Amino acid sequence: MPLNIFKLAALVSGRGSNLQAIIDSIERKELNVRLSIVISSTKDAPALKQAEKHGIETVFIDPATYPNKKAYDKALIDKLEEIPIDLICLAGYMRILGKEFIQTFSGKIINIHPSLLPAFPGLNAQKQAVEYGVKFSGCTVHFVDAGVDNGPIILQTAVPVYDNDGEESLSKRILEQEHHLYPKAIKMIKENKFNVNGRTVTHKKF
Ligand code: GRF
Repeated sequence: MPLNIFKLAALVSGRGSNLQAIIDSIERKELNVRLSIVISSTKDAPALKQAEKHGIETVFIDPATYPNKKAYDKALIDKLEEIPIDLICLAGYMRILGKEFIQTFSGKIINIHPSLLPAFPGLNAQKQAVEYGVKFSGCTVHFVDAGVDNGPIILQTAVPVYDNDGEESLSKRILEQEHHLYPKAIKMIKENKFNVNGRTVTHKKF
């Protein structure tokens, strides 16, 4: 393994389809990074099994064994600093990261969210979009800051909402786009193709 390989970590809690899209992209050699570790906050997350199948180091850090969120986040920090990591991808990670974690890895944490932020942050974004009656929703990859689904936006893809859409059909159509968008954003960050100025992320002109 080259010494300067870009090292990625993923934090997961569940299904892991975005994690799988990242793994596939690495295995197809479209994404030249190493997925060094997958950390889960839930024991039986399918995402963990998927990572294991691909020979990736996996760790379950059990929230129940820490007295509070701060102590849990410290365990995460210690684990990630052992490696160390260039970029942390939240891929269906269902816990809110504390201030200390965000400060420690400032500018190195990204998330994917199933709406066109700032519309519909938080849980059930696709349901929120259907109920609101928007004609387009989509997905967003953004840097993570102290707010919920709030950091500077890196990339977005718009997805139409059809008259007969429900939460399930819209979620499926958005998820297909997430699987393209997340590896694309990671690749662009790895290749240093963005400038970040306050909230604004722009493409570098070479
Ligand atoms: C995705 O919809 C993602 O946008 C959101 O959580 C879901 C995770 O799905 N943050 P998966 O675990 O990647 O399949």
